[in-house]
Amino acid sequence: PVSVYADEQTASIEVAKRISSLIISKQEKGEQAVLGLATGATPVKVYKELIRLHKEEGLSFRNVVTFNLDEYYPMKPGSNQSYVRFMNENLFDHIDINRENINIPDGELKREDIEDFCLKYEQKISGFGGIDLQILGIGRTGHIGFNEPGSAPNSGTRLVTLDELTRRDASRDFGGLANVPTKAITMGIGTIFKAKEIILMAWNEKKASIVKKAVEGDISADVPATYLQLSPNVEFILDHDAASSLT
Ligand code: F6R
Repeated sequence: PVSVYADEQTASIEVAKRISSLIISKQEKGEQAVLGLATGATPVKVYKELIRLHKEEGLSFRNVVTFNLDEYYPMKPGSNQSYVRFMNENLFDHIDINRENINIPDGELKREDIEDFCLKYEQKISGFGGIDLQILGIGRTGHIGFNEPGSAPNSGTRLVTLDELTRRDASRDFGGLANVPTKAITMGIGTIFKAKEIILMAWNEKKASIVKKAVEGDISADVPATYLQLSPNVEFILDHDAASSLT
C-alpha cells in the first residue's frame, strides 16, 4: 500500500509513531524490538521525533536491537561520512539504547574477512528472530540499502560496488566525487525481504520519478526497489511531492 502525507514532517511523525508503538508493545510482552535502520537525509526527522519521544514522553529503547542497512567500504567509524557517526549523531547519542544492541556493517574489515562478517550479520539478525520493522529510503538509481541495479532478489549481506549516480549524489558530503568510496557493505534484497514489516519512505519532488518506477513500474533488477511490489508487508510512505508522479 501507498500512504501519502502532506509533508515530510507529518509523515515522519507517523513513522516514528509506528516505531514507538512496536517498541512499547514488545516491552509489554517482555520482548526485544528488532529495528532495521537507514541513514541518509530521509529518516532524519523520524529519528528527531524518536528522540523527542524519548526525552519528553519517556519512550525507552532499552529493549531495542538495531541493524543498520549499510556502510561505505572502506570507512573508519570516526570519519565524518561514516554511517556509525551518522547514527550516533542523529539517534543513538540521544536515547537510552544499550550500545551492545547496535549493529552496523564494519567498514574497517580486511577484504578477506568481509564474507565471513556478512554471513555472521545475517546469522545475528536471524538469531534475534529477524527484523520486526525495516525502514528504507530510496536512491535515485532505485537502490534500497545499497542494492544497486542488477542486484538479485535473493541477495544477502555483501560487498557491493556503488553506482556512479549514487556516488555523485554522495559527492557533496565527501567534498568531491573522487573521495566517495566505490564500494559498500549492504544488507541484501533478500535480507530486507525477511523483515516482518517494511516501510519505504520518500520525500521531495526529486524522488518523484524513481518513486513512480518503484511503485508502478515493471518488477526488474534494473530498479531494485520494484522488488518491494512482491511483498505484502511493504508500505510506501510518501510526502505529497514524492507521490506527485503516481497515477
Ligand atoms: C542509507 C541507504 C540508502 C538511502 C538512499 C536515499 O542507509 O541505505 O538506500 O536510503 O540512498 O538517501 P537519502 O535519504 O539521503 O536521499
